[in-house]
Amino acid sequence: MIRTAGIEDLPILQQIENICFQEERYSAEDLAAILEEDGFETILADADGPIGSAIVNYRQELIAAQLVSLAVLPQYRGQGIAHALLVEAEGRVRARGARKMVLQVEVINVPAMNLYLHHGFNIEGVIGDYYGPGRDAFFMIKVL
Ligand SMILES: CC(C)(COP(=O)(O)OP(=O)(O)OC[C@H]1O[C@@H](n2cnc3c(N)ncnc32)[C@H](O)[C@@H]1OP(=O)(O)O)[C@@H](O)C(=O)NCCC(=O)NCCS
Repeated sequence: MIRTAGIEDLPILQQIENICFQEERYSAEDLAAILEEDGFETILADADGPIGSAIVNYRQELIAAQLVSLAVLPQYRGQGIAHALLVEAEGRVRARGARKMVLQVEVINVPAMNLYLHHGFNIEGVIGDYYGPGRDAFFMIKVL
């Protein structure tokens, strides 16, 4: 099931972050702030337990929505879950008025790059050292 995450889902979101990201993880405080802020849509995929999550940020004054986080637990990968989370995230920000979505992805993250390219995102440029020294990111955009 794909549903909106609430503050009660904070431990689950943190668990997904901790398992899926080695670095650049959100702290519990960051996630709590995100869950309580109107500009963010936090989406959870779960069944009997957690499966994956997506966080997207959009406010009317922004030019584009920003995909902040997307993660699927290793045992559920390759089944289209990230694709479904992305479709849901796009639908939600589009309903709020967003006409573009942007994201950053590390240039060596092949699964994520393929996902975004198959999903209609285009590479707009490279941001040097975005994730730290020598760790560049692609800046990607999709017209919604
Ligand atoms: C990136 C991630 C979210 C993909 O999740 P997923 O549920 O396995 O993705 P999906 O099953 O929806 O796959 C969708 C597309 O992604 C691509 N993809 C997914 N896993 C891939 C892999 N291991 N290698 C190459 N391409 C892959 C494929 O293009 C696939 O489309 P296809 O089936 O039509 O070929 C997941 O690997 C993950 O959580 N990684 C760690 C966290 C992360 O890096 N998040 C992105 C940060 S920018």
